Amino acid sequence: MASKKIAVIVGSLRKQSLNRKMALSLMACAPSTLSLEIVEIGQLQLYNQDLDDEGQPPAGWVAFRERMQQFDGVLFVTPEYNRSVPAPLKNAIDVGSRPYGKSIWSGKPGAVISVSPGAIGGFGANHHLRQSLVFLNVPAMQQPEAYIGGASHLFDEAGNLTSDSTRTFIQGFMNHFAEWVAANS
Ligand code: FNR
Repeated sequence: MASKKIAVIVGSLRKQSLNRKMALSLMACAPSTLSLEIVEIGQLQLYNQDLDDEGQPPAGWVAFRERMQQFDGVLFVTPEYNRSVPAPLKNAIDVGSRPYGKSIWSGKPGAVISVSPGAIGGFGANHHLRQSLVFLNVPAMQQPEAYIGGASHLFDEAGNLTSDSTRTFIQGFMNHFAEWVAANS
């Protein structure tokens, strides 16, 4: 079976981001039916509807929209900022959702994993994001839910995942996601 192409979107721009380390760990343990790539969002200009309405979208928006068209699904890996998603992630969602009627998200199966040093694992961000995904017509995997707390203790200095129980969990998560993508493509 040909593998499904999955865009991995990381909600943090930080060099030492725990979410980016988790994204790389998720990619490393994914089944061969998925082919995953990180799509960067930090370069996207802040969304301003005038630029679309006037037919002058920035080149970065156009490139992002074109690139995202090539994917069969999307995996969001996000921190929680003030009980919601970080602004760069919301901006990428908004940029991808327009011009009206040309959203790059619609119909793409998705999944959400939130990662935080805190105890509740970014639950608020995870569910704020899910609220947008309902509107965007992204079929978002329900189970397993993934709120990864205490994340500052999960990686070594080189960014390798050191927790066996977390590795077992994320392997199961990615296996379920592969089934979800196959069922919803
Ligand atoms: C945070 N952080 C945070 N953590 C959390 O669990 N819930 C929250 O609401 C917030 N709010 C918040 C706001 C802002 C502006 C910052 C900068 C940070 C802490 C956050 O989880 C921590 O910095 C993570 O390490 C961010 O993820 P990355 O960058 O490591 O992937």
